[in-house]
Amino acid sequence: MENLRIPGPTPLPNEVLQAMTKQMINHRGAEFEQILIGVTDKLKQLFQTKGDVFLLTGSGTAGLEAAIVNTLSPEDKVLSVSIGVFGERFATIAQQFGAEVIPLRFEWGKPADADAVRQALQTEPKIKAVLVTHNETSTGITNDLASISSVVKEFNKLLLVDAISGLGSINLPVDDWHCDVTVTASQKGWMAPPGLAMVSVSQEAWQAHSRARMPRFYWDFAQAKSYLEKGQTPWTPAISTVFALSASLEMMLKEGLPNIIARHARVSQATREGIKSLGLSLFAEESYASNTVTAVWSSDGLDAKKLLQILREEHQIVLAGGQQRLDGKIFRIGHLGWVTEDDIKTVISALRVVLPQAGFKG
Ligand SMILES: Cc1ncc(COP(=O)(O)O)c(C=O)c1O
Repeated sequence: MENLRIPGPTPLPNEVLQAMTKQMINHRGAEFEQILIGVTDKLKQLFQTKGDVFLLTGSGTAGLEAAIVNTLSPEDKVLSVSIGVFGERFATIAQQFGAEVIPLRFEWGKPADADAVRQALQTEPKIKAVLVTHNETSTGITNDLASISSVVKEFNKLLLVDAISGLGSINLPVDDWHCDVTVTASQKGWMAPPGLAMVSVSQEAWQAHSRARMPRFYWDFAQAKSYLEKGQTPWTPAISTVFALSASLEMMLKEGLPNIIARHARVSQATREGIKSLGLSLFAEESYASNTVTAVWSSDGLDAKKLLQILREEHQIVLAGGQQRLDGKIFRIGHLGWVTEDDIKTVISALRVVLPQAGFKG
């Protein structure tokens, strides 16, 4: 079996694997109703919200599209705060649906600056919504969402958050930080397989929904809400993934959110220490380095692609490369969901062996 250490999908605990193999049930019957209500209630606890939470059948990007089409109209001005690949994707979706996107880009490898967000909102008062990535998986950086959120709310703007690779692993109190739509996905820290986007919707987001004119059908939050009141989803859900998520959320609540957050902090610290002990350089400064994914410079002669290949073929360890302009320049270690310090020790030990074989002279 491969030791999968990419930033999602993640390995699954046995309880979750077993839950996935259950026989199909009627998605409009009483048994599914009970599971869906239970899953929704558990997600609200882990999102730290009293607002609505919906399951959408699709990957995380579906949730990002849903956030846009449910709250905005063509030609609305939106501020896109982008620090990497996924910040750019969120902006592209808004643009495709006709929003006027005002980009606020930061150097890849750095977090967003809340003062620059304030300046942008001062410069353009017509901005309706701000798009932000909580945890930028492509660079391994967690934004200071609390500070960004307080600026966005100084100006009473809608805050749409891509929390796909952070929520459930890194603290993100959705209500306290006034996130209007918050998006995550089952294959990240939730220890479940891919197939579901999970989204929270605030009261302000509902008000925006009532005015929003972008085309929407499959992702319409109003449909999701009216069906959830009956214990259903509007369209046939990914039932096996819901079974799996139900089992993983049970495990998460048993561990407790503060313990999960602390475990991710410990494991990421161990990852960074391990990387430094090998003579490698971290891509992100530690003060804003992500607790779910660590990006590492491919320096001192290291051929990152060769490194990943040898790790996979000879040690059955799967790490991730860099994306887009970071391709070949960094590699990334995912440490989210079902992960302990021992899993990371295995990765670091293998790296110690493989680095010289992949040209590293550090
Ligand atoms: C921060 C972030 N946003 C968006 C996505 C896209 O999610 P998906 O691949 O599930 O559509 C990912 C997936 O890696 C992500 O990490």
